[in-house]
Amino acid sequence: MSRIFGTKFELVCDVLDRYERDPSNLIAILQEIQDAYAYLPEDIMTYVATALEISPGTVFGAATFYSHFTLEPKGKYVIKVCDGTACHVKKSADIITTLESELGLNENKKTSDDLLFTLEIVACLGACGIAPVVVVNEDVYGAMNIEKTKTLIEKVRGEEASDA
Ligand code: FES
Repeated sequence: MSRIFGTKFELVCDVLDRYERDPSNLIAILQEIQDAYAYLPEDIMTYVATALEISPGTVFGAATFYSHFTLEPKGKYVIKVCDGTACHVKKSADIITTLESELGLNENKKTSDDLLFTLEIVACLGACGIAPVVVVNEDVYGAMNIEKTKTLIEKVRGEEASDA
């Protein structure tokens, strides 16, 4: 049995049992599994397909169709940088470049190796009046620039270090 099943394997079985291993409950099953793992591990999706007696393609298809499912582990802090028109005009690209540099990320690498940060580029967040906008988990930061972005990352890292 793979490492990822570990102690939470029981959780997956419990979820499957509660939904009576009924394929029509696939979305609800995936949602509960994602709530537990914060993403949908590939081998668990394969297991779910076997348990529901449906093809892995059906499970992966559902997981990739709905944007609120993620197939990659995310960092503890999900940083959303708005690159909608108002934010773009106010140099959101500088903020993205700064974050990629500070966190060791790039276009293809969205989550830091320490699983602390995930960087997402998003469309208009509906706060154009305070563009450019950055959201860290639930916290909104407006009128951002390179310096404020660096300070924000330092603050988060500092809080993490003091929690350790
Ligand atoms: S364009 Fe960024 S909040 Fe609207």
